[in-house]
Amino acid sequence: MSGSASNSAQGPVLVVDYGAQYAQLIARRVREAQVYSEVVPHDTPVEEIQRRNPAAVVLSGGPSSVYADGAPQVDPALFEAGVPVFGICYGFQAMTSALGGTVEHTGTREYGRTELEVSGDGGTLHAEMPGHHPVWMSHGDSVSKAPEGFTVTAATKDTPVAAFESVERQLAGVQYHPEVVHSPHGQEVLRRFLHDIAKVRPQWTTSSIVDDTVAAIREQVGERRAICALSGGVDSAVAAALVHRAIGDQLTCVFVDHGLLRAGERAQVERDFVAATGVRLVTIDAADRFLGELAGVTDPEQKRKIIGREFIRVFEQAARDLQAEAGESGEHIDFLVQGTLYPDVVESGGGSGAANIKSHHNVGGLPDDLQFELVEPLRALFKDEVRRVGLELGLPETIVHRQPFPGPGLGIRIIGEVTADRLETLRAADAIAREELTAAGLDRDIWQCPVVLLADVRSVGVQGDGRTYGHPVVLRPVSSEDAMTADWTRLPYDVLERISTRITNEVAEVNRVTLDVTSKPPGTIEWE
Ligand code: XMP
Repeated sequence: MSGSASNSAQGPVLVVDYGAQYAQLIARRVREAQVYSEVVPHDTPVEEIQRRNPAAVVLSGGPSSVYADGAPQVDPALFEAGVPVFGICYGFQAMTSALGGTVEHTGTREYGRTELEVSGDGGTLHAEMPGHHPVWMSHGDSVSKAPEGFTVTAATKDTPVAAFESVERQLAGVQYHPEVVHSPHGQEVLRRFLHDIAKVRPQWTTSSIVDDTVAAIREQVGERRAICALSGGVDSAVAAALVHRAIGDQLTCVFVDHGLLRAGERAQVERDFVAATGVRLVTIDAADRFLGELAGVTDPEQKRKIIGREFIRVFEQAARDLQAEAGESGEHIDFLVQGTLYPDVVESGGGSGAANIKSHHNVGGLPDDLQFELVEPLRALFKDEVRRVGLELGLPETIVHRQPFPGPGLGIRIIGEVTADRLETLRAADAIAREELTAAGLDRDIWQCPVVLLADVRSVGVQGDGRTYGHPVVLRPVSSEDAMTADWTRLPYDVLERISTRITNEVAEVNRVTLDVTSKPPGTIEWE
């Protein structure tokens, strides 16, 4: 299943990406205003944009100056196309140039929190907002003169034209970043552009996503059969639940227990997920096989490769077995369900493309004798939408709000060789950290909190009457919106103390608990 799950004749809002990190965030905010949106590259020709019949276009911020050599420009034809357009930051300036206004190097840069002064009655975008309120700025050039026929609705100390609009032409823009949380009225401004200026109907709701996706899956799969690998994670669980809602027992799920899971995860899949969905599930117990293959291996990339390879082999065999069973009744399994998300689609869809820092493993590269068509019901969705869909489908909170957990599991959270004993030690320490974070009500404040076992390091301690020579563990609590960047979470000292005391008391091999206070970049979230 490809393309959007957009839900009516109303086309998507297209967010034109000028190369800053903000385009995806803008697309998410547009969806929070209940309007379906997609990101497109800045060199998309106007004819292509028109062909998509967009409900509106948003020009995103970008790192460049409109005067820089090779700076991406906006084709003025866009403004003659009858499509409502909203310009943000760089997009605001590019729009100004294309429409005959003036952008200048004023020499004053505004960066970070800035006070916005609403002009006059604030127009449609800023009406009835506080006369002075904070917004987030990040620009060197400024608009000094709005294009002919536009009303200026806000300024700052250093920027005479910080927002303008022409309600009649359905064109508007702001110099600041309305999409970031540091602009507290930004979401309302974006909503007003979409609903009040562009007249886009708010139809993108969780129940419409479920209905449209279920219909699309039914159409794709028909009477045929599908298979889905469950990892225990949110994405595969929600993908499987959607496909199950669409085709019922034509779907079989396979759960490979590679022995690198955290405490309780297998039960979560076998008991809670099955209870919530009624899905047909086959569990493959492959812990010994994975441990055997990992024996003696310390290099993290090698671990990832081995785990990825073995996972595919085990899954392949399960698929063949199911295929053989299905074959007896004359039914072939034609489809493989994958939990690919929209950010993966945008990021692999070209553009500059992020460097492959770690080889993230997915079920892919299956051999030729297992040819599946892909069903990717989450291809159009962001993570927060996936979670809402999961709740709408009745999945338990424990699954829907589960922290992200890497495919190679605890295998990449043991620094050194992976052994059964070390896994047991880490599993126990990790369970304590999770329990205490949950008890303190902090689950929603952290993105994830890996616990890392420094298995090749020993440190001296005193426990009871004796000297110990145990291992340290590292707590790595991080806050993040998308795992691309992250900050270390300032956990309360009393919570850290409880985690530390319990781990050192209850987990025999661990005599030291340390805290990782590195942001990303420069540190990655996982240690390996
Ligand atoms: P890093 O460590 O690169 O992690 O900052 C970013 C996010 O990706 C997860 N992660 C992985 N997920 N296979 C996965 O499926 C992997 O090999 C892997 N490595 C990191 C990590 O948990 C974080 O959410």
